[in-house]
Amino acid sequence: MGAHLITGAGSGIGSAVADLLTARGEEVWLLARDARRAAQLRERYPDARTLAGNLDDPAKLSWAFGHQALPVELDSLLHIAGVVELGTIGETPVKAWQQQLNVNTVAPAEITRLLLPSLRLARGHVVFVNSGAGLRADPTWGSYAASKFATRALADALRQEEHAHGVRVTSVYPGRTATAMQVKVHQQEGKEYDPSKWIAPESVATAILAALDLPRDAEITEITVRPGQ
Ligand SMILES: NC(=O)c1ccc[n+]([C@@H]2O[C@H](COP(=O)([O-])OP(=O)(O)OC[C@H]3O[C@@H](n4cnc5c(N)ncnc54)[C@H](OP(=O)(O)O)[C@@H]3O)[C@@H](O)[C@H]2O)c1
Repeated sequence: MGAHLITGAGSGIGSAVADLLTARGEEVWLLARDARRAAQLRERYPDARTLAGNLDDPAKLSWAFGHQALPVELDSLLHIAGVVELGTIGETPVKAWQQQLNVNTVAPAEITRLLLPSLRLARGHVVFVNSGAGLRADPTWGSYAASKFATRALADALRQEEHAHGVRVTSVYPGRTATAMQVKVHQQEGKEYDPSKWIAPESVATAILAALDLPRDAEITEITVRPGQ
């Protein structure tokens, strides 16, 4: 049993992780984009604590965290929230670059910074839900892939920096997963969406929990999850 803070618990992979952790009776903290979303999360997860902070505005997270109760000791920080915007480099506006970099990279870095004292106290675990696009940048995926490549760098540096404090760091690289994000990707690609072709969010959540549950003598540094047959 431990305390876990999850971003992106309102949907998809984050929601599947919140379901698994709350079913185990763990102490769960959920970060929502605003107070209204936080109230919705408390309705769905009555035993969970909530925090509000918009990942699209990372510079304000420090102020927001300073005005809310935070876990004293944190066993895991699960960065799952994310956004995607497809488009060629030639047609991607600055706003799309900034939003993806803010939500997918800068906010996870800032939240990690703010919660490091709590993570060190618990010898905790930081999980970054990355993407296959964090390993390979295909046409029209440039801005999203850039944000995920950067998140990989964040995770790799953090792992080495925090090793001495007993903090473990895992990057998870899922392939296409049947969530609201994948519906949007299909719309932007002009393709018909068939969720049965893609990974169930519960399967990615199961892989994340396997990394968390691994005994302390070992650390899963990276997990790649691909659609099965
Ligand atoms: N689905 C895929 O095929 C796939 C593949 C590889 C990697 N991933 C990665 O997996 C992670 C989870 O994605 P998903 O597929 O589960 O997506 P999803 O169903 O669209 O859920 C995304 C979550 O992120 C939250 N979020 C977005 N912008 C936010 C902001 N500004 N502030 C706070 N929260 C914000 C959303 O909050 P609201 O509920 O309030 O909107 C939502 O809970 C992402 O990092 C994504 O890049 C997904």
